[in-house]
Amino acid sequence: MDYFSIIHKYIPPNSPVYPYYIVHVTLVTAKALKIADHMGFSNEQKQFVEEAAMLHDIGIIRVNAADINCRGSLPYVMHIKEGKKILEAEGLASHARIAENHFGIGGITKDEIEESGLKLPLEDIVCKQIEDKVISYSDLFFSKNPSKIFNESSVREVREKIKNYGSRQQQIFELWHHEFVG
Ligand SMILES: [Fe+2]
Repeated sequence: MDYFSIIHKYIPPNSPVYPYYIVHVTLVTAKALKIADHMGFSNEQKQFVEEAAMLHDIGIIRVNAADINCRGSLPYVMHIKEGKKILEAEGLASHARIAENHFGIGGITKDEIEESGLKLPLEDIVCKQIEDKVISYSDLFFSKNPSKIFNESSVREVREKIKNYGSRQQQIFELWHHEFVG
């Protein structure tokens, strides 16, 4: 599957968000593929991880995030729902699932959405498959913020970043860290 043709359809190379998008998803994809190798994924699984990781943030084109030149009208969190819609419309249901569930640490539960006040529909959005988990984990180490877009966070920095995510999500991170890296 030519994921560049899909990226270019929604985020043209001359659009101001394109450089941020490409750098971010490439770094996340490279980390996810390193883990996939370490975990002994099949070639088919690795191909899927590559495609889904390169497309996981496609929904940012429809949100408002001035620091990365996104001039959409929706709040940032909606990039997960918009990404899902875009990829489903492209006939990529499995990739769409990851555009939605890469958020937080392996997704977010209905209760967590309610507690956080995030403007998302009240439903569980949770990673169930190993490929999804590897992408969600890898995404935690990178930011789209232009001042640190090339920086890979250390595990200590990720732990610091997620300290307000609640104990369920923190436990998942530790579990994944042990499983994917340890
Ligand atoms: Fe991301």
